[in-house]
Amino acid sequence: MSGVDLRNVSLDALQAEVKRRFECSFKPRSRVVLVGPAGSGKGTQAPRLSDEMCWCHLSTGDLLRDEVKKGSELGREAKKIMDAGGLVSDDIVIGMIKNKISEPMCSNGVIFDGFPRTVNQAKALDNMLASDGKQIDKAIEFDIPDQVLVERITGRRIHLASGRSYHIKFAPPKVEGIDDITGEPLIHRTDDTEEALMKRMNSYHANTGPILDYYKQKGRFAKVDANRNVDDVWNDLKNAARPI
Ligand code: AP5
Repeated sequence: MSGVDLRNVSLDALQAEVKRRFECSFKPRSRVVLVGPAGSGKGTQAPRLSDEMCWCHLSTGDLLRDEVKKGSELGREAKKIMDAGGLVSDDIVIGMIKNKISEPMCSNGVIFDGFPRTVNQAKALDNMLASDGKQIDKAIEFDIPDQVLVERITGRRIHLASGRSYHIKFAPPKVEGIDDITGEPLIHRTDDTEEALMKRMNSYHANTGPILDYYKQKGRFAKVDANRNVDDVWNDLKNAARPI
């Protein structure tokens, strides 16, 4: 609630937050990485995992879209790369993550979604955490065939402010085109075209595939079959992510 005048927050909301924090204090702490191609379901599952385990959800895609929305110089540069299905430079995304992981909401644990995407980013993340005596406890691959992704991506609609993800067929909002929680309009991401998707899939296999071996070699790897309905994927994910 930093930056918020607590006198303007209702007592009910404050009590709910205190209760949430109390319950969170009993949950295990961990840092997990979700690895999977565009449309594999990382952004659908991460908020559920965040609610269940009290770990913060850090999505580099969402952080970059925030910069685009703000119209910052970084955002303008990033938009061109994202719309073309390319990768934003390692320095930029590593810097964004560095700023976020030390925030109080990430003290219980972190779900990294869409980061790291290159072995260079994975090594930078390990160094960042090691300097604080921490590590990635599990990298979880969302295993899915490429051919499923086109329908998922072209039918996706998102709520820009929260990153909440819907699908016109598989996960429709209660009212067409409207976010269930805020009542605000949903948008079609400008990189959710078949053309950009092909580039993102190629980039995933070339650049992100090798990080799976990086985590396998460290013995911190798990895989879920992401080509099933949302609830079945969730059941496997929560077991894979739970610390031993
Ligand atoms: P980012 O936003 O991270 O995109 P992405 O990794 O390509 O992943 P997506 O958000 O497209 O897919 P998702 O797996 O979250 O799928 P979702 O759950 O929404 O990155 C965007 C861009 O930013 C990148 O291309 C790059 O340019 C840049 N970037 C980001 N991070 C970077 C980094 N670290 N380094 C460099 N550049 C970076 O699901 C998709 C759809 O399917 C939804 O409609 C959903 O409702 C539906 N769905 C989900 N699960 C199921 C299911 N089980 N069954 C049926 N439908 C489902």
